[in-house]
Amino acid sequence: MAGVESWTGHFGLACPPFAKSIPASKLFERTAHQEVVARIRYCVSEMAMGAITGDVGAGKSVALRAAVASLDRTRHTVVYIANPMFGTRGLYVSIVSALGAVPRFHKAEVMAQAATLLAAEEAERHRKVLVAIDEAHLLSPAQLEELRLMANAEMDAASPFALVLLGQPMLSRQLRLGVFAAYAARLVMSRCVTNRLAERLNGRTCAA
Ligand SMILES: Nc1ncnc2c1ncn2[C@@H]1O[C@H](COP(=O)(O)OP(=O)(O)O)[C@@H](O)[C@H]1O
Ligand SMILES: [Mg+2]
Repeated sequence: MAGVESWTGHFGLACPPFAKSIPASKLFERTAHQEVVARIRYCVSEMAMGAITGDVGAGKSVALRAAVASLDRTRHTVVYIANPMFGTRGLYVSIVSALGAVPRFHKAEVMAQAATLLAAEEAERHRKVLVAIDEAHLLSPAQLEELRLMANAEMDAASPFALVLLGQPMLSRQLRLGVFAAYAARLVMSRCVTNRLAERLNGRTCAA
């Protein structure tokens, strides 16, 4: 059976071109990619909320990976949630687990535990926390509201973590709904990443 080597060799390639595991340093530095990486880094440095939207395959997750790779890991803690379809308790459980603790059983307890651990990351370990949620268009309204409340600290004057939501264009439409007006006001950036080649093939432009 023909392996990867034979087809990459046939096309004169050194490795498969669209693999999921391209190291961050080897990614193609197109403008849209650089722009999204810079905006994610800005969110982290400001401990703010941001949303990146774009069609499947536009390069959102790859840009997040590149932004995370550029962070000093001794000064940052990254909580990456690949799929948020686990209810509101699941959000707290993911954060607590990623911060190295065993989640408590009851929702009220795990909420308090997440808040304590997030505060300790900055106050005691001097690390900024980035919570990045992929496929964020799947977040329920209740989850979005819990995230917004979790991001409020010190009477809304500070946030215990930077929040980056990555999702399909539907996400920017969800965040523009009246019930999320508070979100729209807090998002320091909302960026649509486009895939020019896909646009040209489909003969359309990104609407978000
Ligand atoms: N800047 C880039 N350089 C090289 N390959 C890229 C780049 N951006 C995207 N890709 C390719 O496109 C694929 C899909 O990108 P991905 O970030 O997973 O899309 P999305 O998260 O928007 O659905 C990746 O697996 C990678 O192979
Ligand atoms: Mg993705």
